[in-house]
Amino acid sequence: MRRVSTPATNADIFPDTARIGSDGHLAVGGCDLVALAAQHGTPLYVYDEASIRARAGQYREALARVYPGRVTVCYAAKAYCAPWILRVVADEGLGLDVVSGGELHAARVVGFPMDRVYFHGNNKSADELALAFAASVGRVVVDNREEIDRLATLARDRGVRQAVLLRVGPGVAAHTHAHLQTGAADTKFGLDIASGAAADGLRDILARRELELRGLHMHLGSQIADTEAYREGVERLFRFAAEMRAGARLVLREVSPGGGFAVRYGPDETPVDTPRMVGDVGRVVLAAARSHGFADPLPDLTIEPGRALVATAALALYRVGSVKRTGARTYAAVDGGMADNIRPTAYDARYTAVLAARANDAADATVTVAGRYCESGDILIREARLPLPRAGELIAIPVSGAYHLSMASNYNQVPRPAVVVVAEGRARLVRRRETYDDLLSLELDERQEREAARD
Ligand SMILES: Cc1ncc(COP(=O)(O)O)c(C=O)c1O
Repeated sequence: MRRVSTPATNADIFPDTARIGSDGHLAVGGCDLVALAAQHGTPLYVYDEASIRARAGQYREALARVYPGRVTVCYAAKAYCAPWILRVVADEGLGLDVVSGGELHAARVVGFPMDRVYFHGNNKSADELALAFAASVGRVVVDNREEIDRLATLARDRGVRQAVLLRVGPGVAAHTHAHLQTGAADTKFGLDIASGAAADGLRDILARRELELRGLHMHLGSQIADTEAYREGVERLFRFAAEMRAGARLVLREVSPGGGFAVRYGPDETPVDTPRMVGDVGRVVLAAARSHGFADPLPDLTIEPGRALVATAALALYRVGSVKRTGARTYAAVDGGMADNIRPTAYDARYTAVLAARANDAADATVTVAGRYCESGDILIREARLPLPRAGELIAIPVSGAYHLSMASNYNQVPRPAVVVVAEGRARLVRRRETYDDLLSLELDERQEREAARD
């Protein structure tokens, strides 16, 4: 066995434990992907636990090295939320960012330490806020003025004081896809600084005895590959904090510049040294804290990577059903597509692929990897360089760990994939493949409809 080299001369887009055997098979976590597909079927998502733990350790250390205050790496569960991964994240000592009652419920079910949970969202429902109180979440990240009222009422009714952060909009447009920007001047998230909405919201929180304002949060977007946007955003956040210290007696105990650290999806993209970027963001926060007089004591620093913790940990494994030449293209149709990975359709996301059983063969064909769904936009990779695949072969797509399964649907009434986690030569099934009956399990039959109408 040897480390992945050609055709992916780019080990960083594969899980850390990816190897090519002398038989040309790709293996992850000591498990042969061909054997995994034979046992569990396809599409199959294969997560490498060691990669997730390695990233967690790297980011924690990168921050701790540069930032003398308290640091927390918080996993953004929206990237992929499943009980097994929340257990790994808890075990690594990370915090957790949740954005819905469902993500919060998953955290409760696995016994995630609630003091390390941050509840985000631009429109948390009354039920979700009540759930957050019942669970005693560590922080609620406030998005809007109405939420301040709702939180204060809930806290008063329960006789507790709720710790909150205020999400501010710094008005910085990060260099990324427009759908992935969240901190620009025109965004639905948080209260923006420039218009005065953030100042009003902050005063509002400080006026409620039931709420304890711990600090400020921002999030600029996703797939941000350089620190420039963070530098600008953090500077604006601290300038705002300094104004509010003077004008509203803000005490800044915590600050979060959010997540959004980029990963690369294929060899034609520039490599990103994410641990270095995390460290650089830590330095940016430290410098801004010092220059605005917030160094004694330094606020606790939290970052919220989602994608960067899990994206490269997983491969999606598909079986080729047909290979046909149409017009100028060779189409290889696989048994998954936009319902398990909406990113190419939604964001023009680009991927690369290898043949799981011929990972050493020359990538001398250009193939369009088409999904199985009834949309012509369901193309996973428009131009993949691969050995020409044959029907029945397995295509493995790396960097499949984030925003695939968490965005997956049952479009065309197709069951969602199974998931295995590999580590040290063992594979455990953590999610079984859905069945056709699963897909109908929430639909009411005629008798149940009548009963529901009577209730
Ligand atoms: C508030 C917040 N934090 C963190 C993240 C994670 O982003 P990423 O997965 O790009 O790191 C998001 C993503 O939308 C977010 O909205």
